[in-house]
Amino acid sequence: MQDIVFATNNSHKLEEIRRIVGGKFRILSLKEIGCEEDIPETADTLEGNALMKARYVKEHYGYDCFADDTGLMVDALDGAPGVYSARYAGPGHDSAANMALLLKNLDGITTRSARFVTVIALILNGREMTFEGRVEGEILTEAHGTAGFGYDPVFKPVESAVSFAEMTPDAKNAISHRGRATARLMDYLQTL
Ligand code: IMP
Repeated sequence: MQDIVFATNNSHKLEEIRRIVGGKFRILSLKEIGCEEDIPETADTLEGNALMKARYVKEHYGYDCFADDTGLMVDALDGAPGVYSARYAGPGHDSAANMALLLKNLDGITTRSARFVTVIALILNGREMTFEGRVEGEILTEAHGTAGFGYDPVFKPVESAVSFAEMTPDAKNAISHRGRATARLMDYLQTL
């Protein structure tokens, strides 16, 4: 098994990725390699942030690594919150506050189409690559369900009758932005 760091400490994301990756690679978290500091994510694109995080781990800790960055793009809000999705309601990364602000900003708006986009940047064996996944959907008028994390309770994918937060982890992974980006990453890893 080859070690690869996934540049996150988000236990939900680690669980999702480990479930998808299976037994071929051992996925280490930032905590498991002793990286406790906040990695800068100051780029203004998802790709820029993902690359910034992966390069940081490679440079400072020496591990091959992949890092993801995700944004929720809402058409009626000109693509917001987008690359700023985690800090939409302020620097606290508070999912409940982010969802509340999103619902407030869409109050009375009937065009509710949106998409989640994930970019994964991989640094492996001296190469840098990026992989993208997206899922189209709509923002519900209120929260539904308690599974998942982040904006899951207010996002309903077009392929589903229910929100991400009402789906099982496997059902979400099968169609999610991160599931699709990870599938592309996995396809590449299988070719090595
Ligand atoms: P990050 O790139 O993982 O930091 O995610 C940016 C923002 O999108 C954060 O507010 C996350 O909670 C949210 N987010 C990322 N992935 C998902 C998801 O699968 N479902 C719901 N929200 C997500």
